[in-house]
Amino acid sequence: MEFDRRTFVKGAAATAAFLPSFSILRAEDKDITIGPKDDDINVAMIGFGAEGKVLAASLVRIPGVRVRAVCDIWRFEQQRAKAFFKGYGHTVNTYEDYREMLEKEDKNIDAVIVATPDWMHCEHTCACLRAGKHVYCEKEMSNRLELAAEMCRVQKETGKLLQIGHQRRSNPRYRHCFEHIVPNMLGRVTTAYAQWNRTLAPFFTYKKPPKQDILTKYGYTNAEQFHNWRWFYKYGGGSMVDLGSHQIDLFIWAWGVPPSSVTAIGGKDAFDPPREAYDRMYCIYEFKMPDGTKNEAIYQVISSNARGGFYEQFMGVNASLTIAEISARGNTVQRELRQGGLSDAEWQKFIDKGWILPNEGDKVKKEVTKDIAVDTRISAQANGNQLAIEMNKPAHMPHLENFFAACRHGAALNCPAELAYESAVAVLAANKSADSHAKYVFKPEEFKVPPRAS
Ligand SMILES: NC(=O)c1ccc[n+]([C@@H]2O[C@H](COP(=O)([O-])OP(=O)(O)OC[C@H]3O[C@@H](n4cnc5c(N)ncnc54)[C@H](O)[C@@H]3O)[C@@H](O)[C@H]2O)c1
Repeated sequence: MEFDRRTFVKGAAATAAFLPSFSILRAEDKDITIGPKDDDINVAMIGFGAEGKVLAASLVRIPGVRVRAVCDIWRFEQQRAKAFFKGYGHTVNTYEDYREMLEKEDKNIDAVIVATPDWMHCEHTCACLRAGKHVYCEKEMSNRLELAAEMCRVQKETGKLLQIGHQRRSNPRYRHCFEHIVPNMLGRVTTAYAQWNRTLAPFFTYKKPPKQDILTKYGYTNAEQFHNWRWFYKYGGGSMVDLGSHQIDLFIWAWGVPPSSVTAIGGKDAFDPPREAYDRMYCIYEFKMPDGTKNEAIYQVISSNARGGFYEQFMGVNASLTIAEISARGNTVQRELRQGGLSDAEWQKFIDKGWILPNEGDKVKKEVTKDIAVDTRISAQANGNQLAIEMNKPAHMPHLENFFAACRHGAALNCPAELAYESAVAVLAANKSADSHAKYVFKPEEFKVPPRAS
């Protein structure tokens, strides 16, 4: 797809408008490209909360990207956005209402980053697409499936790009694993496991939340719900939708098919008083494979104990992969030491290919296990080999770079809307299964975006 450059940026006036603030760059950021360029992609943001700031930290590090405007209903965040971007040489106009921003900035922006709470994603994304902007919208696409479907339809109708923020899809460590390790090293993977465990945390409170009339105007019942929207079904979907959305997407990626069923059990009373959405959930997803076999993924998210943190595991008959977005929490491939399993020579080939790093400890461990009276209840364990790939960028940066490469010269998006829709279907069904205390069996057509109801 051709990147539709706006001629206005070529004007000298536009260039001059950006000159005064360049000197505020911090010394450690001197590698960052500064100053407007004729072929910059001009960007606006909607939502400058926790995730908006994380994305902003990557945006200012991507050459050729210029942030021009930020919308947030909370004036406090508007001011923080202005100050933040000024520090990196971007002069931004700020807005409370996205409609005003789209109207006034129409000619100044090419793409919009949406980082508002899940319930607003559809409205914000569709308005931007219809205004002719490419959109990067945070996950979960929406807390309501019909709104996620509408986002897909509007993307198709407008022909603009829509990338959904499942950033692991662009992370080179995950791409390495799903391109090389999972299909070629693990053997048949019958079982995957992932978890996201966090400690008990009270609701966020702020001394000066937005005024109630602003909250009411934008649909928030009160400040508690505004700050803690994830825990209320009107705005979010609880911890399963918040955190599970990242990891269920990986099961789908690894096996290449959406799940055939989910059975989930949830609890709501880890907090006192209990929260509206499940604070913990335990799920089993079944995946029917094209060759007729069936695999299972076990998923756990809890909000009352952080033991083990967050990571994903893919357990094959020949080896298992443990990976996490933070490599210190998961970055290894561990060989299965079994009769008929991979030989030392076969394992060495993976090292020679540059997929995993050599591990002297592997040999030592095997020596030790020889001396143990191993009975049938215990299997010997090899030490893991580290993945032979690193990512030295902020976690969201490659996904944003992929989005801008698509805007500029038609690179394929790593998480286009219809792909993210599949994972939204899978994730949102876990809450349904827990509510009904029953297995939720997917119909294959559920993963396709339905036509708009007339
Ligand atoms: N990809 C990731 O790793 C990741 C991590 C965290 C959050 N997220 C996603 O990012 C999104 C935002 O989450 P967050 O943690 O930043 O929440 P947050 O509450 O910290 O920030 C949301 C911001 O949106 C603003 N906002 C709310 N309604 C608005 C409206 N109608 N118009 C304009 N601004 C509005 C709020 O004032 C706030 O500043 C969510 O969809 C969340 O799921 C993604």
